[in-house]
Amino acid sequence: GLKKKEVNVLCLGLDNSGKTTIINQLKPSNLRLYGPLSDDWKHVSQTQTQDIVPTIGFNIEKFKSSSLSFTVFDMSGQSRYRNLWEHYYKESHAIIFVIDSGDKLRMVVAKEELDTLLNHQDICSRRMPVLLFANKSDLREAMSSVKVSQLLCLENIKDKPWHICASNAVKGEGLQEGVDWLQGT
Ligand code: GTP
Ligand code: MG
Repeated sequence: GLKKKEVNVLCLGLDNSGKTTIINQLKPSNLRLYGPLSDDWKHVSQTQTQDIVPTIGFNIEKFKSSSLSFTVFDMSGQSRYRNLWEHYYKESHAIIFVIDSGDKLRMVVAKEELDTLLNHQDICSRRMPVLLFANKSDLREAMSSVKVSQLLCLENIKDKPWHICASNAVKGEGLQEGVDWLQGT
């Protein structure tokens, strides 16, 4: 569980699922830190939900809640960047996995990526919490979080605490429930 005060969270999921929108909602509207592979993070600009563009590589965001300091690695979900994900598994303490609940066609791709992640040598043996957002719950075609969890076979995750929340990242709905769960693990 998250006993530490400083927590590294890896935010993963397919491109366009809403990762950056979620992270942007979670942090108080302050700095955005962009990360190359060095410690030389630089302050670039304030970003609002409507300015969000597809992530290139990844962004690093830092924010505090009442009890924890989070460093979030907001990874790009584009297939050409997904090979970056595994480099951050070892140093991460928790995973946020975001799914576009309206994207029926790519649910199988999301499942493949989740399965690959959970079976990775740096993840599979650890009791690391996995928070899933069934995002875009506002879309007319959105599947429920129960349906998403069935399609992803989440009941097969036996060795890690996991939790799925429906969310609407544009409005910020459902996000706090997820973060509260993560803080309680
Ligand atoms: P990559 O960085 O390419 O991996 O994508 P991402 O997962 O970071 O997605 P991003 O946050 O950039 O959001 C993609 C698009 O989905 C944007 O146009 C968002 O405004 C939109 N979006 C995000 N969350 C929601 C949501 O809950 N509902 C709806 N309707 N749109 C959303
Ligand atoms: Mg992004």
